[in-house]
Order: sequence, then structure tokens, then C-alpha cells
Amino acid sequence: MEQSTRPSLVVTPHKGIRYAFAQLIMKAGNLDYTDKAQVADLKSQLDEFGGLLEEHAHLENEFILKSLEQRVPGSADHDEQDHVALEALQVEVLAKLEAILDPRLSDTKARAMGYAFYQDLGKLYAAHLEHMLEEETVTQQLLWKHFSDMEIIGLHVQIVRSIPPEVMLSWAKYLIPALNLNERIELLAGIQAGAPPAFFEQVMAIAKKTLPTPDVLKLESKLMIAAF
Ligand SMILES: [Fe+2]
Repeated sequence: MEQSTRPSLVVTPHKGIRYAFAQLIMKAGNLDYTDKAQVADLKSQLDEFGGLLEEHAHLENEFILKSLEQRVPGSADHDEQDHVALEALQVEVLAKLEAILDPRLSDTKARAMGYAFYQDLGKLYAAHLEHMLEEETVTQQLLWKHFSDMEIIGLHVQIVRSIPPEVMLSWAKYLIPALNLNERIELLAGIQAGAPPAFFEQVMAIAKKTLPTPDVLKLESKLMIAAF
């Protein structure tokens, strides 16, 4: 399907979610589950990303689905139920990883539990892919049908304002490398124009850490232009 020129509230976060899951599933695939430090490191990354997923679902419920429900009664049910099911699955997956930290486990048992966790993480990834596609097609079409571009941009502003700076920084390490150059410039120019300079510098430090040097240089030259 061709990308619409109309505003979307989900393209940016969903690219970040796909990027993060892809990274996590690769890491979970080649991890040595007998090495507790490696398991603990993956657990802390998954805990943080899990928090971002919960917060993302909460924002969709509060701002997008509530608004949609007011204009099209019953239209929010499917996505809201998905959010509940995805969160329950996430809790199960995290508990499976936590259990591998038990120091009494034999190496054989830790490897077997690691593989079972890896399969479940794949199930969670697949469930999110399906859910996001539904939101990007069915839910998105409903929004475009029942809301003007200005109203959608208004919702976007409310959503962005509700995200605390530290949460935005956690998102940035997935969003920046996940976006293409145009989308990245749009995101960072918005932060450059609307946020305190110290925050923008923190975001740029993440860009430098997560992007190849040629992409950082392109970004810096475009943002210099955007600043004048
Ligand atoms: Fe969602």
C-alpha cells in the first residue's frame, strides 16, 4: 500500500517498535543463557523496552482510541483488547527470562529455558507486528475518515507533550536509527525547535551513537539549514 501524505500518529513509534524487536530477537538468538551477566543484560533491555510498549499502548488508548470511540462507537474495542492481550503475553515472556537468572539451574536447563524464551519472544514480536499493521491500516483509515488533518496534528501535539523527557530519550535510541532520513530530520528539527537546547544535545548524542557517521553528517547539515 502506498504511504499516504496525510498525517499519521503511528508510523514513527511503530518503526521504533519493529526496530527494537528485530534487535532483541537477534540478541536473544545468539545469547549464551548459561552466562547470567548476558541474561541480566538482555533482561534489563527488555524491561526498559517493555515499559515503552506499555506506555505506547496507554497513549494510544488515552488519546487516539478514546477520541475515535467518541465519533465511531465500538471502533476502539479491537485495539484495546489487543493491548490487554499483548501486555499479558509480555508479562509471561519477561517471567520466562527472569527464571533463567536462577543460580541453581544446570547449564543444560538454562539453555533449554533460553530457547523456550526465544520462541516466546518471537511470538510476542509476531503479535505486535500483526497488531501494528491492523492499526496502520484499519484504525488509521477510520481516523482519516472521521478526523481532519488539523485534528490529527492536535492529537499528535497532546501525545508528544504528555511524554516525559527521560521516556523520550529511551525511545530516541530506537526511533532515530529506525526512521529514514526525511522522517529523522522532521523528528529532530521538531525537537530542535521546541525543546530546550540541552535536551536536543542529548538526542543528538544518541543519534551519533546509533547512526553511521555519513548519516550523522547528513543529519547535521540538514539541521543546520533548518535552524536558519
Ligand atoms: Fe497499539
